[in-house]
Amino acid sequence: MSLAEIAKQMVAPGKGILAADESTGTIEKRFTKIAVPSTEDNRRAYREMLFTTPGFGEYISGVIMYDETIRQSAKNGKTFVQIQQEAGVLPGIKVDQGTKDMDGSTTLTTGGSPNEKVTKGLEGLPERLKEYASLGAKFAKWRAVITIEGTDLPTDANIRQNAKDLAAYAKACQEADIVPMVEPEVLMDGSHTAARCAEVSEKVLTALFEELAAADVAIEGTILKTNMVVPGKESGEKKTPDEVAEATLALFKKILPPNLPGQAFLSGGQSEIEATENLNAMNARGPHPWNLSFSYGRALQDSALKKWAGSPANVAAAQKVLAHRAKMNGLATEGKYSKEMENERPY
Ligand code: 13P
Repeated sequence: MSLAEIAKQMVAPGKGILAADESTGTIEKRFTKIAVPSTEDNRRAYREMLFTTPGFGEYISGVIMYDETIRQSAKNGKTFVQIQQEAGVLPGIKVDQGTKDMDGSTTLTTGGSPNEKVTKGLEGLPERLKEYASLGAKFAKWRAVITIEGTDLPTDANIRQNAKDLAAYAKACQEADIVPMVEPEVLMDGSHTAARCAEVSEKVLTALFEELAAADVAIEGTILKTNMVVPGKESGEKKTPDEVAEATLALFKKILPPNLPGQAFLSGGQSEIEATENLNAMNARGPHPWNLSFSYGRALQDSALKKWAGSPANVAAAQKVLAHRAKMNGLATEGKYSKEMENERPY
């Protein structure tokens, strides 16, 4: 399959991506909430529960895995990659190595602002991509985080550096025959308004597409993964799904090139139902030049993780929860979701 064909398949109507690429540190935080120790075998058992969900490929087009996960197998001896392939699901891999403070960022900020972050992992990336391709990865993910604080943050320097790194990563992926999912995430943390989120997201996406062009990245073989235009979590502002959809689409229409196959949203701290309703509202206003899909982590897993709670006896029940959320979001990619459908949710 060509990169363009894989990219299309990732955002095929009716389907989306399960982000199950929590780093060891992040999954430990999630497991702490359900009082499960984050051992390698518990992480393996949890992911086996997710990936062996009956009908997994019906609403899921791809899975993003972590380095440890792509090398793991189910109890029956089949690798997770094989299990996904058999379900018609594309295996994907997170290839960034987390974030670090940007050089000089403390001097760019004022009044105790947090340091701005850049993403680690460009060093040795071509070799790692080669290995991941040999393990079966068809697409990759690299996440850049952008913090809003007052009018000081983000700085233009931070936006530009993250855009350049995303473009360098994307180019390396395409050279290794892997579709890059480029993820600039404007964080929901903070007290900023939705209008400020729109303004910052516009700068971030503008810089990103400039840098992708400068690095000669083929847009037809690229998937965007970014945030919706939403208010900061501590802002007290509330936006309806229609308002989120209007603001996000206005931004995308200005910036996303029509040859971009699709954009798969991150959930970023939205509740499961908010994430579904907002996606649905956008697709109810379609068709758009690009498919608008999902690549949710928490918004697909939160309730399933709680239901599982580390017990083999809960696997089937937890899988029903995941299947329900996947179906709701699958319907939302075509604007066919309605909140009444949640009445049939198995939790
Ligand atoms: P959330 O949907 O939980 O934000 O996770 C998606 C993701 O992959 C963030 O990098």
